[in-house]
Amino acid sequence: MSENKPIIKIENLKKSFGQNIKVLNGIDLEIFKGEIVAVIGPSGTGKSTMLRCINYLEIPDEGIITLNGSSIDASNYNKKDITEIRKHTAMVFQHYNLFKNMTVLENVMEALRLVHKINKEEAEKIALDSLEMVGMLEKKDQYPSRLSGGQQQRVGIARAISVKPDILLLDEPTSSLDPELVAGVLSTIKKLATTGVTMIIVTHEINFAKETATRVLFMENGKIAEDGSPEEVLNNPSSSRLRDFLSINK
Ligand SMILES: Nc1ncnc2c1ncn2[C@@H]1O[C@H](COP(=O)(O)OP(=O)(O)O)[C@@H](O)[C@H]1O
Ligand SMILES: [Mg+2]
Repeated sequence: MSENKPIIKIENLKKSFGQNIKVLNGIDLEIFKGEIVAVIGPSGTGKSTMLRCINYLEIPDEGIITLNGSSIDASNYNKKDITEIRKHTAMVFQHYNLFKNMTVLENVMEALRLVHKINKEEAEKIALDSLEMVGMLEKKDQYPSRLSGGQQQRVGIARAISVKPDILLLDEPTSSLDPELVAGVLSTIKKLATTGVTMIIVTHEINFAKETATRVLFMENGKIAEDGSPEEVLNNPSSSRLRDFLSINK
């Protein structure tokens, strides 16, 4: 594939809940390999819904998503298309979403075994590498309830990177954490950002976005209202609404 093709292309993505709640009003977006895209914007503006529609955790009403060359069209798709799109994405959730009845290692191995059909020995090797990357190797035999929120989230990140997704989706990965645990998780994500992985990260951490993102999107009312470099979007916001948002979220 040629270098200048986007790794993911989103066309006219729309999603409503019920009849009146229009959440995504036609999102168009192209993301290229290695981009670290931070998504900011007021609460309720559709940031989570956009991420969840990308991997069909939420089924869009309309729109085409092309991931690494293969497309899924909301008006005409089948289960196989969803399996395919999920193989190429991974998600880190605000509330970690680890399986409580599985150890750390088992949590990381689960998708490798079930979705990617990797044999046990190989899956364990990959899982251990991923846990080492996030600094959680020594907790591999613990259950999630014995870990702090920050440690659980680092396991969530290990689980997501273990499948080597074309695109990593992170939905406010630090907003459930006690303040003293935020920095550790952000530095794990920062380290990840230097490895060439492509990611979309929804975050309220404006300073983190400034330091780590290569591109910042401001979402408002189910649309991408601003899209540019961190300097453009965060230091020289063109709209008064973005200026207001940034002044509240310092
Ligand atoms: N499953 C759902 N059913 C009904 N409404 C939903 C559902 N998920 C999200 N919404 C609504 O969609 C809007 C956008 O939500 P969300 O994407 O979570 O926003 P954000 O992540 O930007 O805070 C909100 O008004 C929310 O209440
Ligand atoms: Mg959200």
